Amino acid sequence: MTRHFLEITDLTVDELDRVLALAVTPPKPVLAGRGVALLFEKPSARTRHSSEMAVVNLGGHPISVAAGEVDLDHRETAEDVARTFANFHAAIGARVFDHDVLRRMAAAIDDQGFTVPVINLLSDVAHPCQALADVLTLRETFGPDLVGRTLTYVGDANNVAKSLAFAGVALGMEIRIASPEGYQFGGGDLAAIAEYAVDAGRGGSIVQSDDVEALSTGVDALYTDAWTSMGQEAEAAQRRIDLARYSVTEELLALAEGAVVLHCLPAHRGEEISDGVLESASAKVWRQVFHRRTAMVGLLSFLAEVGSIR
Ligand code: CP
Ligand code: NVA
Repeated sequence: MTRHFLEITDLTVDELDRVLALAVTPPKPVLAGRGVALLFEKPSARTRHSSEMAVVNLGGHPISVAAGEVDLDHRETAEDVARTFANFHAAIGARVFDHDVLRRMAAAIDDQGFTVPVINLLSDVAHPCQALADVLTLRETFGPDLVGRTLTYVGDANNVAKSLAFAGVALGMEIRIASPEGYQFGGGDLAAIAEYAVDAGRGGSIVQSDDVEALSTGVDALYTDAWTSMGQEAEAAQRRIDLARYSVTEELLALAEGAVVLHCLPAHRGEEISDGVLESASAKVWRQVFHRRTAMVGLLSFLAEVGSIR
């Protein structure tokens, strides 16, 4: 059966290790003569370019598709778009508003007997390709063994936070979510992250609280992302009020002396992160951007290795 990649939990921890290892191995031409469709319902700088270049690195041909070109579920169904792409491409990446669209695309491909993985390039609930780049950056900073390392995510417990939490706990990290009420993980998400940590067996854990100072004190890494994600623009004013204290500033960073600061970008200086912190030597954001491409090389190489890309 085709292995799709909609969330980090689609991998066992050993498979996650393998993806990360392949990310830092010279690419093999596993996509020679093949295409990869990359569909974007929302804007992208890093994801489009890293994915396209990873496909090129693996000998393939990327075709990026903007939302209006296929107009999912208006011009035709997401299922029909997926099955059309599956006739021409070795893999399909998609950035969508509604995570369920990815599930429908994957199911439609499976139903028709295609062996073409669907890769989540960001949905409302997950951003697993970003999380792969994040843990590659953490490994580059702290060494390959992340067991016992602490990372505090500051702000809205969103799609980026969730995929990061899954990857972090799998690799044995203590992930701390510092978010105000209303912006925290729900019980179901927390339980799923804790269960994945147990399955991985590396002692990873998740905690959550609104006490951003307490959770940030003495940690190895601080991470933040936009207060308002794509698709939530109507809530931006309220979010600025509710999340005002949840910002990675010089004062917060002083509580975690020596910590590295991560951000998936795009950044909103003066909101979730200060300009000074983002421009400081503590910030490893450009290594994260670098690893978006290596992460995609690792993921596509893994999918070829397990026979989901043929
Ligand atoms: N971090 C990230 O996914 O960036 P883009 O939205 O620019 O792709
Ligand atoms: N949480 C953000 C991430 C952007 C890369 C969003 O979904 O818009």
